[in-house]
Amino acid sequence: MNHIKILGPFAQVLPLRGMPLKGSLSDETLEIIPDGGVAVQEGHIIAVDGFERLIKSYPGAVVEESEAVEKNSTLIPGFVDAHTHICFAGNRARDYALRVAGKSYLEIAKAGGGIWDSVTRTREASLTDLTELTVQRANRLLNQGTTTIEIKSGYGLNESNELKMLLAIAQAQASTLADLVSTCLSAHMKPRDFEGSQAEYLDMVLQTLLPVIRRERLSNRVDIFVEESAFDVPGSRNFLRQAKALGFDLTVHADQFSTGGSALAVEMGALSADHLEASTDQEIHLLAQSDTVAVALPGASLGLGMGFTPARRLLDAGACLAIASDWNPGSAPMGDLLTQAAILGAYEKLSLAETLAGLTFRAAKALGLNDRGRIEAGQLADLQAYPTTDYRDIFYNQGTLKPTRVWKKGKQI
Ligand code: NIG
Ligand code: FE
Repeated sequence: MNHIKILGPFAQVLPLRGMPLKGSLSDETLEIIPDGGVAVQEGHIIAVDGFERLIKSYPGAVVEESEAVEKNSTLIPGFVDAHTHICFAGNRARDYALRVAGKSYLEIAKAGGGIWDSVTRTREASLTDLTELTVQRANRLLNQGTTTIEIKSGYGLNESNELKMLLAIAQAQASTLADLVSTCLSAHMKPRDFEGSQAEYLDMVLQTLLPVIRRERLSNRVDIFVEESAFDVPGSRNFLRQAKALGFDLTVHADQFSTGGSALAVEMGALSADHLEASTDQEIHLLAQSDTVAVALPGASLGLGMGFTPARRLLDAGACLAIASDWNPGSAPMGDLLTQAAILGAYEKLSLAETLAGLTFRAAKALGLNDRGRIEAGQLADLQAYPTTDYRDIFYNQGTLKPTRVWKKGKQI
């Protein structure tokens, strides 16, 4: 019975056990354990049950001494943010001001703002500074209940600076308890200073960068921005095919302004297709028939003042829907996943069960992970407790109610 710890009693524990990975979910299907607890050993959950029953089952266990706090709180799994760009330097408040004054994202990019501006600032930053900026943002997310964070490169856009970004993410891992999952997004756009065609740039990434990234174990995921302003479908297909042959998992920035990306993501067996604001019934059907997770990024819709991903229609068609923050300096500067998910739910008419699933075990699937996102035996003890006796308050407050306690692998932050 050594080293077993029992957390609780919580007014409500929502384990999300047994809930399906795909399709719509009603709140009636949510299991709620009143006066519940969780038994944890070596960073993993070994049991979830009524608190008193757990105490009897594990007589030698240590009970964490916070009963007064827990008995008025609700425990849910830690969030998984499956899409961020939090490794960056600089600030794009100027873009934002131009945008709210009426200029479009693409117009601003053409006029020298946009992604290229962040590339310039990120190239100027030292590895140490970039690491520190990444740590600060990751720890902010962790304190808000996000225990696993995907982070993309894509503001370096040449060999040395893409490697610098991935190295910064790897080094940031030493200074945060959140799990960081890195993704190579060297195919974010063809950099302005690259002398050659789109195809030649993608070829450089394939020949020069990806083998080093693999050898140095800097990432096992590759992303590409498939869009009229970035990379076209045939070039992206060739790129993804070769990245897959090198052993990388795939994800795609798809259907943000125009379609094409999500069908390609499905065709290539990508883990996820992210954005999807422009997806039509045809793309929704393809995603629903596939194993590719549809990732909604409401933070980008809010940052750009554009429509949301058709989350309701995706779920009704049978897709696996995850919700991520897309936190980046341009299109999604807010970086508050819970606020964004609550707002998406209000506009798209998502049940709270669907929103919770999209932030937890369905988001984990977008990263190819099945060891987190539910409170059940065998899962990582990634947990968060909110100061309420009714889980609905978490979303009702639209992000202003924050977790009072967060645990990563059983360790309280
Ligand atoms: O997911 N769409 C392309 N990439 C990012 C935006 C990056 C930026 O604006 O800096 C996105 O929205
Ligand atoms: Fe993005």
